[in-house]
Amino acid sequence: MSYSLRGLLGYIRPLTSNDQDLSYLFKRLLLRRGAFSTLLHTVFSSINSKMSALGSSRLLNLPGGDIGGHNLTWTGTLTTILTAVTIAWTLYLLSLAIYRIYFHPLAKYPGPLLGKLTAWNAFWPAVRGQATLARHSWTQKYGRVVRIAPNELLFGDNQTVKDIYGQMSNACPKDAEFYGPFTVTGARNVFNSYDRIEHAAIRRLLSHAFSMNEIKKTQIRIIPIIERCLKIIEHSPQPVNFWEKFSYMFLDIVSDLSFDRCFNCLEGEMLKEAHDADAVQNISAIRGWVPFIVYVPSSFVQEAVRARPRLIKFARQQIDEFRARSAAGTVQEGSLLKRVVEAEDEETGRKMSDLELMENAIVFLQAGSETSLSALCYLLYEVDRRPAIKDRLVQEIREAFPDTHVFPDFDTADKLVGDRFFPHMGPC
Ligand code: HEM
Repeated sequence: MSYSLRGLLGYIRPLTSNDQDLSYLFKRLLLRRGAFSTLLHTVFSSINSKMSALGSSRLLNLPGGDIGGHNLTWTGTLTTILTAVTIAWTLYLLSLAIYRIYFHPLAKYPGPLLGKLTAWNAFWPAVRGQATLARHSWTQKYGRVVRIAPNELLFGDNQTVKDIYGQMSNACPKDAEFYGPFTVTGARNVFNSYDRIEHAAIRRLLSHAFSMNEIKKTQIRIIPIIERCLKIIEHSPQPVNFWEKFSYMFLDIVSDLSFDRCFNCLEGEMLKEAHDADAVQNISAIRGWVPFIVYVPSSFVQEAVRARPRLIKFARQQIDEFRARSAAGTVQEGSLLKRVVEAEDEETGRKMSDLELMENAIVFLQAGSETSLSALCYLLYEVDRRPAIKDRLVQEIREAFPDTHVFPDFDTADKLVGDRFFPHMGPC
């Protein structure tokens, strides 16, 4: 019963472990204590007495009656039940709506009316691939905290982002319903492991590979990719779509880090694999809300469904090939995957299984490419519309790296970043 209530109403995401949603109260009051049958009986009797008063005494007959010689036992009973259920259901929905709008623990937060009533408000734009646009427009309209679904708040300010993701002693736990489905093979990865102990164990296995020292070693593999991208942009006779070129550049960089295999998207290779990783990621978040998402007949969703087995096959091949290269001693310098493969948990002596390697490599690819792409494009856009900042930036970079033929190194560039530019940019 609980499931059908959820299905019909829209998915009700629990706010806390002891969710105070009205559906819970109704289930207890009406269903468990037998009050539902009492309610039905009252409704039947009242309808029947009204019909008697109108002279149609047998129209809504309870079992055993007839009109004009026709036995209406079944039709009468069915009509009565349907009417009663419709009335009860309407009453339930009305009270639920009133509760969610005025008495719910999140009632005081602003947001679209539909969001206060049903989780479909946040779900629908996500299925159509427009979650980001919808969320942006809500924060523009309602401010820094928006109630986008009955049990869901959207935060659009820097401080809250720090509070949620910051390394506090009392850090926010990961929501199992949201993070759990972020898996492609079914195995746990560093992103979707919501259990603290399990998450810490995976982090320990990755910490060495992601230390600053190791990340710096990857420069010898990353720099040629960036140079390739810049060359394409510089030598293009036509205006260049930065978003597309940088997207390929980051996919090339992160695939090289994650699978030890550069996609070469900038050269037009392996675009299908890159697209598959993106498509699968697109519906991962929705799977938390709606486990049956894979049956939704939307091209956005079905593309992801078809891409999943291909992505798993690809990841399996890459790990197998890497193992073969590793055994032959032909892995190139600056391999992040090599560090992950070699890592051993000091506490347990455990290493990552092949499935975990595949799963985490896919997560790096998904977590590292579009995030970097959005950050870079947004930075370029913001700097470009502030000429004074742009001039200073160019001047400082030229001073730090006078030889335009030598690619900037991380350590020198890192000293430039600090607090020097960004505090002046202010809010957008
Ligand atoms: C500017 C670029 C990036 C931004 C803005 C960014 C942003 C974020 C954010 C906000 C989270 C927390 C997500 C959550 O828990 O809900 C996260 C987690 C993560 N990111 Fe990034 N990221 C960037 C680049 C990268 C890159 C390049 C990689 C890997 C190659 C990466 C790998 C990860 C991983 C593995 C996690 C999960 C960590 C954990 O839960 O312990 N990210 N990132």
